[in-house]
Amino acid sequence: MVRVNFFLAALALATGALAKTNSDCQTQYNSCRTGADANMSYCVSEHQTCCADVYDSCRVGADANMAQCAADNAACKAQS
Ligand SMILES: *[C@@H]1O[C@H](CO)[C@@H](O)[C@H](O)[C@H]1NC(C)=O
Repeated sequence: MVRVNFFLAALALATGALAKTNSDCQTQYNSCRTGADANMSYCVSEHQTCCADVYDSCRVGADANMAQCAADNAACKAQS
């Protein structure tokens, strides 16, 4: 089961079918800012780019739930 999930995740990433999520951005941001040579302005800018990507793919998604996208995006910005 784990292997199947891994395969599906890899496939989804490769095809771009599985978009980044806010939580991916958050994980990335957390590891960036807690790193040894953390560059806060770099981390914050990466985080904002990540959230913008998430929002863009959310908005244009097949079953885009605009309210949810906007709420996620707002939550994300508040964290920066
Ligand atoms: C931090 O990152 C910013 C943006 O990438 C860069 O302009 C700046 O020089 C970096 N600062 C340090 C101390 O590395």
